Amino acid sequence: LSRDSFPDGFLFGTAASAYQVEGMASEDGRGPSIWDEFVKVPGHIADNATGEFSIDQYHRYKEDVDLMQTLNFDAYRFSISWSRIFPNGTGEVNWKGVAYYNRLIDYMIEKGIIPYANLYHYDLPLALQERYGGWLNRQVVQDFADYAEFCFDTFGDRVKNWMTFNEPRVVAALGFDNGVNPPNRCSKQFGNCTDGNSATEPYIVAHNLILSHAEAVKRYREKYQAKQNGRIGIFLDFVWYEPLTRSIADNYAAQRARDFHVGWFLHPLVYGEYPRTMQRTVRERLPKFNQSEVESVKDSFDVLGINHYTSYYVSDPRQPPPSVTGYQQDWNAKFAYERNGVPIGRQAHSPWLYEVPWGMYKVVTYVKDRYRNPNIILSENGMDVPGNLTFPESLYDVDRVNFYRSYLKELKRAMDDGANVTGYFAWSMLDNFEWLLGYTSRFGLVYVDYDDLKRYPKLSAYWFKQLLERNNP
Ligand code: GCO
Repeated sequence: LSRDSFPDGFLFGTAASAYQVEGMASEDGRGPSIWDEFVKVPGHIADNATGEFSIDQYHRYKEDVDLMQTLNFDAYRFSISWSRIFPNGTGEVNWKGVAYYNRLIDYMIEKGIIPYANLYHYDLPLALQERYGGWLNRQVVQDFADYAEFCFDTFGDRVKNWMTFNEPRVVAALGFDNGVNPPNRCSKQFGNCTDGNSATEPYIVAHNLILSHAEAVKRYREKYQAKQNGRIGIFLDFVWYEPLTRSIADNYAAQRARDFHVGWFLHPLVYGEYPRTMQRTVRERLPKFNQSEVESVKDSFDVLGINHYTSYYVSDPRQPPPSVTGYQQDWNAKFAYERNGVPIGRQAHSPWLYEVPWGMYKVVTYVKDRYRNPNIILSENGMDVPGNLTFPESLYDVDRVNFYRSYLKELKRAMDDGANVTGYFAWSMLDNFEWLLGYTSRFGLVYVDYDDLKRYPKLSAYWFKQLLERNNP
């Protein structure tokens, strides 16, 4: 496997997000997001950590971009913090925040690293949550599009690759179905979350996320794309679901799982309507697109990012157990994490992923066959390792090298079978704040010492460096 195994122009990059790497969360004018409030409550994060300082990319971005170049990467997928630009979500601009992203983008271009700018990675301005309930309120569509338009206008002369959302399904399901993520809403019986409704709110939120995406894309295409000549898309997370047995019931359960997971967003973006399986089960709880919304939602992307890590087996539970949440009840699938004693995927609360490389072939081929072979970038892929291995042992991450080699081979196999994949982004170049797991989970190709924030490339970093070497200088 080498860079020459992939077509000319195929991009290799790494991915990260604002709250997970920037630090300076309350400095230089940044306003709080819903995560800033959430992490402050003891017990919410595994090690009671926060992204307040994180790995301080806000100040160390030059060192990090230099490292990307040293490792022969072509691009960097970063996210812009909405509340660093608009501390209150709307209205007054924080120009120090704008200046930071200008410094980062300018330095990337100076060092030949292509900027992929993602507008939203879970970090809704707290002001909008408090003002009108955030994603539950249709007002967010205009406010998000106004924020997006400001970014197109300010950075679009240099940023030619835009993405609206990272994993809208996670926003809707973890924020409003099981409520484990901010704003922590769910039906009372499902957890210690605020009083939401797991049977209806996830669908309202997903609908507003899709409309917000479409409105931002509409404005980009009408006002900026002609003169800036860029592309715009969205990142969707896609676990592969394999039927546990060959029974018809399990095959239907696996298809329902794919529809409720990725079809929830990709079906509207390609066909202008929710998947039929979803329409049949959710019925009147599923919001409707009116005719003009169908027009703006359908085909509202130039590039589709797929975040893929793992796969699960799925069987048909006949009736969903009453304990599962509203959206999960509709989904009505029973997940299995092993078959005949062979583990698969991420065991619930296990510290790491099991290699399931063939899942990469399956998700990419599924999107190719069912969704008209769009321009795909594999926008996240990677693994953390069990627990907090000590230093320097954790620099010899042979498991991670095997993970990347086997998944990249499967991606290549899907491309050889006709999938239109134009880029691959590893999650993540640096160890960083892994949401509910805090700093106890390390996904980086580069180790970060959280005491002095020094960066130490792991074996996997050098593996990518040799993989991405350009033979023809
Ligand atoms: C995402 C992910 C990232 C995680 C990565 C490892 O939604 O893109 O949550 O932010 O850090 O997927 O879990």
